Amino acid sequence: MNYYQYEGFWYPFFHIVNLPNKKRMLEHFKPQHKQVILSSFPKCGTTWLKALAFAITTRSCESEPTNLLLTRLSHDCVPFIEFQISSSQPKLILDVPLVSTHIPYTSLPKSVINSGCKIVYICRDPNDTFVSLYHFYYKVNTKEELPTNEIIEEDVFECFCQGLTACGPFWDDLLGYWRASLESPKRILFIKYEDLKNETVYWVKKLAQFIGYPFSLEEEDKGMIQKIINFCSFENMSNLEVNKNGAVTLEVGIKKHEVDTFELKNNIYFRKGNIGDWKNHLTPTMATRIDQITEQKLASYGLT
Ligand code: A3P
Repeated sequence: MNYYQYEGFWYPFFHIVNLPNKKRMLEHFKPQHKQVILSSFPKCGTTWLKALAFAITTRSCESEPTNLLLTRLSHDCVPFIEFQISSSQPKLILDVPLVSTHIPYTSLPKSVINSGCKIVYICRDPNDTFVSLYHFYYKVNTKEELPTNEIIEEDVFECFCQGLTACGPFWDDLLGYWRASLESPKRILFIKYEDLKNETVYWVKKLAQFIGYPFSLEEEDKGMIQKIINFCSFENMSNLEVNKNGAVTLEVGIKKHEVDTFELKNNIYFRKGNIGDWKNHLTPTMATRIDQITEQKLASYGLT
């Protein structure tokens, strides 16, 4: 795949064709005060975070709070601003409380930064992120699952280390949001995928509080938090009909004045949802190399 650099980050062809234009358009996107942006590097748990935030903001004690998620992929419930803004057929207006982005913090338009709207950033262990990312493109290209225990090719691994992947370098993306969250902790919440997995109740409560939809004591007593966690769990989400057999059509550029599209099956967003699956696909030497880069790039910022 061809990658292009824009403001220090690498993007695949279909992102970059419109990125400068998109950015100009995004300058006109002024998030509402209560709007929340869910940000992430690809494959860090975006689909899960969107489902949780959507379920939290749409809950009600009387009815099933997550009914739209029963029939729509969470990416359709919480649109990516960069795709929606230039889509020929926007599925949802951007005037919704939750939107999302893979745009690095340092490339966000000033209108977004200055709006004071809240941002939730989810990050993940780099080894697992890389394996998940590799699987995504493997499946796009072959339509098959990455075979268990297959070690990823050295040159593809090296590209990740060099930052040459969609929205890479991974570490720079993470650092942009981390530093911003240290400067503005009330505006930017930083969540680790592993923490969300291991201490789900704590982080779901924190997320709800942060985005302005805290759980009441009555809701806690009625088990609302656990209900949302169970609904958004990998086991439940990956088995919903829409996520097992549904598909989305992505616009990937313009060819001869016509929009070029390709279909992506929704199940590509649900693979294993485990911590540490990298051990099946990276050698110890590869893992050590990633650890060294992480140490070198992030340790002085208190992030390892
Ligand atoms: P794996 O490939 O390691 O299984 P993104 O949503 O940013 O594209 O990230 C995809 C990763 O999140 C995949 O990881 C996917 O399986 C995992 N994932 C998707 N839904 C999840 C959920 N409800 N809970 C936990 N992990 C989930």
